[in-house]
Amino acid sequence: MTPDEAGLALADPSAYAEEDRLHTALTLLRKEDPVHWVDPSPEFNPFWAVTKHADVLEIERQQDIFLNGPRPLLATAEADAHAAENGQLLTTLVHLDDPKHKVLRAIAADWFKPRAMRDLQLRVDELAVRYVDRMVELGGECDFVRDVAVHYPLYVILSLLGLPESDFPRILKLTQEIFGGQDTEQRRGQTQEEMIAVVTDFFAYFQGITTDRRANPTNDLASTIANGMVDGELLNDMDTISYYVIVATAGHDTTSSTIAGGLHALIENPDQLQRLRDDPSLAGPAADEMIRWVTPVKEFMRTATRDYELRGVSIKEGDSLLLSYPSANRDEDVFEDPFRFDVGRTPNKHLAFGFGAHYCLGAALARMETKAFFSTLIPRLDALDLAGKPESVATTFVGGLKHLPIRYQMR
Ligand code: HEM
Repeated sequence: MTPDEAGLALADPSAYAEEDRLHTALTLLRKEDPVHWVDPSPEFNPFWAVTKHADVLEIERQQDIFLNGPRPLLATAEADAHAAENGQLLTTLVHLDDPKHKVLRAIAADWFKPRAMRDLQLRVDELAVRYVDRMVELGGECDFVRDVAVHYPLYVILSLLGLPESDFPRILKLTQEIFGGQDTEQRRGQTQEEMIAVVTDFFAYFQGITTDRRANPTNDLASTIANGMVDGELLNDMDTISYYVIVATAGHDTTSSTIAGGLHALIENPDQLQRLRDDPSLAGPAADEMIRWVTPVKEFMRTATRDYELRGVSIKEGDSLLLSYPSANRDEDVFEDPFRFDVGRTPNKHLAFGFGAHYCLGAALARMETKAFFSTLIPRLDALDLAGKPESVATTFVGGLKHLPIRYQMR
């Protein structure tokens, strides 16, 4: 494989569904050309692939030079052209830069601080028990992704938003369509028209929530967003709805992918499962190792506002850079034996949550959910095995396993 061939894997959704192929390409790039120009035209516009941990950090630290806008993530050239002509379909936090980004981020920030996390712990523990009980009800065999992993984090985040349980299935479907658009198993979200239809459905649903929470504010995150102010004025419709969308979507698929990939890693590494059984205090480091191992967010992008030299490579003003989190999290210069799943790994300076101004708002919540789930599951698990072939989502953005057939014995 040449660096050019390896670089194209970064823009190939199917490569992300085949971990070995992806990591062979990323390992080659880290070694031979860590800042590599990739040109996947005509489907995608070109970009610099940034594959080393230190370089991803260097870019993310300099939010004044490397902006999220106008190309915050790898979208098709068709979608880039549509956004350039008509504006972005959504203006979520990841689409924005300062000063607006800082002001909007502050609106929800308190809901993700340690104090709020302590308040939420009980609810998260309760939901973890509910889904571990569900595994018992399923009688010793299930598709862990479909039956457990996609539901639990969605329930946590929608509880935080304060939305009724009866609406959860609808949001689950919309989330999967937004994030799984490149995978042929998802029905919509494949073409630009379908993506617009999905976003329109989201708008319709959340418009109703905004109207309701403005009229009857309650003590939940949806009310905080609906009544959030910038310069003494309520957020406009686009900013409000984009806010719900980023919280509902970012808070869900990422964590479910982590929990499913984490369970798969425990099946493949029974010694690590035994370590966790023997020493429950490893649940915290194990959660972080699962997040590093899965790295459910595959990339975000930045655009250079001026010429810049990165690892001896000349980046020109206006160039796009793709930050490859899966690559940074297997960087041999940072992680000892990076392809070993180690539930006791310390330090574990992974970049799965990004870094800097856009550092994942829900990082503490994601850690808490992952830890709570495995702390509840493992003491009740007597046996665990694969019952079929695991399958991953074909996507360049957010994903992980979409099927994990398992067989187990539980108390
Ligand atoms: C942003 C990863 C869970 C909400 C991000 C970013 C990454 C990420 C890589 C962009 C960071 C950057 O550009 O430097 C993850 C992973 C998760 C996870 C790996 C689970 C394991 C969550 C949860 C929430 C959440 C549970 C809850 C709402 C957000 C929000 C942003 C964000 C709102 C945008 C922040 C901004 O642009 O200022 N996340 N996330 N994420 N995440 Fe997460």
